[in-house]
Amino acid sequence: MAPLMVVAAAFVAFSLPPYLSLDPAQSRVPAPDFFPPHFAVLSLHVVFGSIAMITCCLQIWPWFRARYPRAHRRIGRVYVFAGCLPSGLLGLTVGVATPWGPVTMVSNVLLALLWLGCTLAGWRMARQRRFADHRRWMVRSFALTMSIVTNRIYGVLFGILFFPPARHDLQRRRDAADADDRGPERLARLGAAPAGGRVVAGTHRRRQAPRPHPHPHPPLNLTTDHHT
Ligand code: HEM
Repeated sequence: MAPLMVVAAAFVAFSLPPYLSLDPAQSRVPAPDFFPPHFAVLSLHVVFGSIAMITCCLQIWPWFRARYPRAHRRIGRVYVFAGCLPSGLLGLTVGVATPWGPVTMVSNVLLALLWLGCTLAGWRMARQRRFADHRRWMVRSFALTMSIVTNRIYGVLFGILFFPPARHDLQRRRDAADADDRGPERLARLGAAPAGGRVVAGTHRRRQAPRPHPHPHPPLNLTTDHHT
């Protein structure tokens, strides 16, 4: 439980300050022109989201639930009505107005609806004293609350797995160097580091034959007569 609380506290400590500053320039999400209250809505979303994140760490802790059932009920109401519901509705609004395009918009809206739905279902189950169902829906709600953290981890991992930028960039620069006047010189500089690594690792291969160097301006042929 302690690692979860540390992660939640670290996320809130990192995320919240810009949105408490009341200064739109501090926002990490650019405001779209068509939605002027973007910063205010986003800031409130983050404040309520932080409440949800901190409270759910306590709620999910079996020892705390068993030891302090009354506190579990009170904090549960805070989690639902001062955390997930306001943050979810504001997240839904700011998600529709996202500056990152339609794919992000659809994923934001789906996530917000799932978050609101699971949380409301969990709350209703508790009211109806269906505690096994309450537990199931609240575990889902908890997973969605923490998804703001886990999605960032998946995002970085998938980014590295499927879009390795360094390799693409190196290939693009090699192609550009191939097609240009000072190609061999640039190629030598680009290849120096990886080639050095391969030499150290003993995995380098000698090039079979030098590649022809395309020249953008063919030299003038002054000796041959074309006018026959
Ligand atoms: C799980 C449901 C959630 C949804 C649907 C949601 C939705 C959004 C949306 C739409 C944005 C604006 C970014 C964009 O336009 O794409 C945003 C930003 C943000 N959200 Fe949430 N959010 C959720 C949960 C949370 C929680 C629990 C927190 C906890 C503090 C949180 C903290 C933030 C922060 C800090 C930003 C600003 C981005 C940044 O500074 O890096 N969100 N969220």
